[in-house]
Amino acid sequence: MKSMHDVVIIGAGVAGLHTALSLDDDLNVLVLSKDYAWECNTFYAQGGVAVAVDDDDIPIHIKDTLNAGAGLCDEGAVDILCHEGPVVIKEFIEHGFKFDKDRQGNLLYTKEAAHSRNRILHAGGDATGRYIHQFLMDLLKFPILYNTQVTDLLIEDNECYGVRVFHNNEIFNIYAKKIVIASGGVGSVYEYHTNARTISSDMQGICAMRDIALRDMEMMQFHPTVFVQSSAVRKQLLSESLRGEGAKIVDEDGRRFLFDYDSRGELSPRNIVSQAIFDYQQKSGKKVFLDLNSFEEGFFMKRFPSIYFNMNNMGYYLPIDLVPVSPAFHYAMGGIKSDLFGRVDKVKSLYVVGEAANTRVHGANRLASNSLLEGFVFSKRVALDIKLTLREKKRVVKFDEVEPSLIKVGDKELKNELRNLMWSYAGIQRDEKNLQKALNRVEEMLKLSIGKLLRLRLLSSREIIKSALKRKESLGAHYIKRSGT
Ligand code: SIN
Repeated sequence: MKSMHDVVIIGAGVAGLHTALSLDDDLNVLVLSKDYAWECNTFYAQGGVAVAVDDDDIPIHIKDTLNAGAGLCDEGAVDILCHEGPVVIKEFIEHGFKFDKDRQGNLLYTKEAAHSRNRILHAGGDATGRYIHQFLMDLLKFPILYNTQVTDLLIEDNECYGVRVFHNNEIFNIYAKKIVIASGGVGSVYEYHTNARTISSDMQGICAMRDIALRDMEMMQFHPTVFVQSSAVRKQLLSESLRGEGAKIVDEDGRRFLFDYDSRGELSPRNIVSQAIFDYQQKSGKKVFLDLNSFEEGFFMKRFPSIYFNMNNMGYYLPIDLVPVSPAFHYAMGGIKSDLFGRVDKVKSLYVVGEAANTRVHGANRLASNSLLEGFVFSKRVALDIKLTLREKKRVVKFDEVEPSLIKVGDKELKNELRNLMWSYAGIQRDEKNLQKALNRVEEMLKLSIGKLLRLRLLSSREIIKSALKRKESLGAHYIKRSGT
């Protein structure tokens, strides 16, 4: 496949698919998916889509987002998210999407931590991401090339001309007038995470390799309530909406210790709950559980069917059983630096949207359920900019079609070592000594004879560690552990 496309979109989650939906039907667009299309973070999103319930709620949604973001948000980005969010979601509903409603036909809104009111729309109970993904796939009018690993961006003189890919055992180039990165975050660089198995920071690594700016890479969000005691790569998330609707966090003696850390208890912002659980487990040596006993059984099965089913498969009968939980990596606020139309810093024709992007809309800590909304809102802006600039003249440039080995013997062991290193030294609690240790080891690994895909993960990890080393004070999700604290 060597033809010229109008647009190539890397990634088939909400950001990629909604970009596609927002482009004109007569364009020649190709979507690239690394695996099955559903292997993306959108598909596994449980909680929902945060959106202002009415005009009066817009400034409150803005305030909640800024508060969670701990001073690092771009106020313009937040303004766009919260003002354009209701418009885009209304359009999505007009396309025919069905969020959950009550018997009278009113939209149901749930609450999650750090939201000052119920404003999270959901679908299929706790299957919001899956429903949205399926719906967007049904609306997709362009082809998808599956099992396609992007190995490089084709860039010359600060302009992007396409991507190099590995597909069907072949390396080749795909040329396009506009290239959109919508490939998600960095989950697989951490040992414990909630992300789809495809999410492994490849595009962030390519950007690091090509000197394209990454920003706020120290800002990695850990979700507080994850069931990590399974051998699955993606650990089972227990949605924040459970706590929003009454679930408690307790230790093995039934004590709600979160109030020792913050008077908002279970409804404190995500970073505070994660850090508190991690700290309490370390200090007390006690196990921590999610207690769902406040839910009536029949209601629970209907409202949280996926969690009910998945946990049942793992031997837990909800809402009766206590579920052991731990924080796990969940979401990257840091990413590829872009402006508010998704234009990648200093590289013409290249866009980024969704979790891969850093517009600073989430600042130092993302407000729960703002990410699906971000995918919807900013993809529409990317599509708009593409529409306005697609007809601009572009040179034809040809690039060679070779790559060094993508995978080498021994990579798997090093990959696992990296995941452990990042979890232990660049995870929830950080300190300079351990970050430095991690950096030294990553630098050593980069000098080994390794495949390109591992190299990309290492380059992304190095950016995370270096950014963490630069930020000397705790802020949002970046928590520095001082000795004695
Ligand atoms: C959750 O359901 O707790 C996840 C929501 C989110 O990450 O925004």
